[in-house]
Amino acid sequence: MQSDPFDKTGRSNTRWQQSLLSREVRESRNRHRAAVLWFTGLSGAGKSTLAHATEKRLFELSCQTYVLDGDNVRHGLCGDLGFSVEDRSENLRRIGHVAKLFFDTGVIILSAFISPFSQDRAFVRRMIPAGRFIEIYCSTPLEVCESRDTKGLYLKARAGLIKDFTGVSAAYEPPTDPELIIDTQQQTIAASVEEIVVLLVKRNILQL
Ligand code: ADX
Repeated sequence: MQSDPFDKTGRSNTRWQQSLLSREVRESRNRHRAAVLWFTGLSGAGKSTLAHATEKRLFELSCQTYVLDGDNVRHGLCGDLGFSVEDRSENLRRIGHVAKLFFDTGVIILSAFISPFSQDRAFVRRMIPAGRFIEIYCSTPLEVCESRDTKGLYLKARAGLIKDFTGVSAAYEPPTDPELIIDTQQQTIAASVEEIVVLLVKRNILQL
């Protein structure tokens, strides 16, 4: 019999099992500390490109890294979700938990999701210890993202073939206090990567 009649999932019958290895112990094997680099911005703003380029650079610096990429995650873990406000929220709830699991292993996670709503980003930020969640706002303006239209999705959205498209028929709430703002139109990918590396050093996440 379930001990809590309101517990539909049976979660109250489960118990958190503490790992014998703390994050700090795991981190001590690396030359860096764990962190979540959270890239947010419109589709086509350069989030994925920048996240992957930064990962490559950090990998060269002997860091343990992993990229969580919106398009990829939506092929698997979040393949059942669409782009309504509720589904995007659920998308980020799941990603937040995955990011937290990776974080606990001591790695640097780079996540590239539009993550258009402040409250969903705040939810993930709250899951990660202070100073280890680095929000990077890819602020490339809509006109530029739309003119790039790398996946041809803006054209489809304007033609009404895709509904709830961020920037066209769905909202994007820019971060009010991100750790870093990068406009990929204004500087090269290489320069942006270096800016991120410098920030990680300054925040004591990385030692060069
Ligand atoms: S999020 O809003 O839930 O954070 P996510 O980053 O996972 O979005 O997925 C965004 C990607 O899905 C875009 O880069 C684009 O390729 C694709 N996409 C398909 N439909 C939409 C839509 N309606 N709005 C935004 N992106 C969409």
